[in-house]
Amino acid sequence: MKKTVHLVVNGEPWELDVAPNDVLIEVLRDRIGVKSPKIGCERGDCGSCTVLLDGRSVRSCLVLAIEADGHAITTVEGLAAPGHLTPVQQAFVDSSAFQCGFCAPGMVLSVHELLGHEPNPTRAQVEHAIAGNLCRCTGYHPIVDAVMTAVAAGAAERAIRDGTLAAVGARAGHADDGAEVQA
Ligand code: FES
Ligand code: FES
Repeated sequence: MKKTVHLVVNGEPWELDVAPNDVLIEVLRDRIGVKSPKIGCERGDCGSCTVLLDGRSVRSCLVLAIEADGHAITTVEGLAAPGHLTPVQQAFVDSSAFQCGFCAPGMVLSVHELLGHEPNPTRAQVEHAIAGNLCRCTGYHPIVDAVMTAVAAGAAERAIRDGTLAAVGARAGHADDGAEVQA
């Protein structure tokens, strides 16, 4: 028997009738038309289906649509105003951090979640944040490099605004520490 659910997707309210076994990623892609979450492994391993559920990253291949009833879902389409990119998205574009881009939406959302509670993360924290997002082609160094570029730019902006520019240099040294991301 179908059930009516209410979702808010990228700020837009939706009312949909779903079956008990309808998975969130299928509803997002096939019913709502949001195509950025990608169907990869369909078992929670690859992170390509990552979305934010009330601000927390989840694998939408493991979430039933009825479990998302009443919740807000954000995908990369909803991170910035139409026609604009977040600083991290812009850094990814500027540095050509991705090749095929299949992993990119999930990576962006995982980083976005991290920056929501840690705006000045270390390289190791960025690597940890995307550890569940698998990339099959570019590798992880350019991706982490791009995030750190955006982080450094954001820190510099804040320092200029707050008059604490000296702190940025100290932080930049800290940000270059950390282990390499494992494939
Ligand atoms: S498709 Fe959901 S984790 Fe791979
Ligand atoms: S750029 Fe192709 S999977 Fe990451």
